[in-house]
Amino acid sequence: MMGDGVFKIDLPNARATYNLGICLGQLCPPGTVLLLLGDLGSGKTTLVQGIGAGLGIAEPISSPTFTLINEYLEGRMPLYHVDLYRLDSEQVGSLELESYWDATGCVPGLLAIEWSERILDSPKSAIRLKLGSKPGGGRWATVLTATDDQVALLEQVICDGLLADEV
Ligand SMILES: Nc1ncnc2c1ncn2[C@@H]1O[C@H](COP(=O)(O)OP(=O)(O)OP(=O)(O)O)[C@@H](O)[C@H]1O
Ligand SMILES: [Mg+2]
Repeated sequence: MMGDGVFKIDLPNARATYNLGICLGQLCPPGTVLLLLGDLGSGKTTLVQGIGAGLGIAEPISSPTFTLINEYLEGRMPLYHVDLYRLDSEQVGSLELESYWDATGCVPGLLAIEWSERILDSPKSAIRLKLGSKPGGGRWATVLTATDDQVALLEQVICDGLLADEV
């Protein structure tokens, strides 16, 4: 299918995860849905903190584990940060996250969802980003794109070389 792409990105340290977030925050268009996947402590919140910086959000971004959804409206576009860790799939259904990705109930922005494994019917145009630990420390990010624009965006992220920044 057009737009399908798989990108594997080496993230040797937390700064690299944060920098990947910055790139995504700078480059993603309004209406982007970013489904974050990966085990406990794999770096999902760190990535979203970088996204916040890339969007120009000064407010500290903390994990919405208990609030479920945090909204940040001060940046280039809104950041909607969701954490589904405490919910099962049925409870996730009743959250009506569709109102975020249809943009019927909010200003289009970037919707980043931790523990998106819990979503049964996610939008086809979402970017899927899975974080996993490397044996010697560090992480891998595996990114699955759904559109040609997203392929171009990821190619730009990788070409920018920003991720290689030293700590
Ligand atoms: N690429 C990396 N290499 C090594 N450590 C990292 C990397 N990215 C993030 N970390 C570290 O991993 C730890 C957990 O990060 P974080 O809280 O972002 O994970 P999470 O996936 O959001 O966890 P949770 O599942 O609890 O929500 C933090 O100490 C963070 O600094
Ligand atoms: Mg987290």
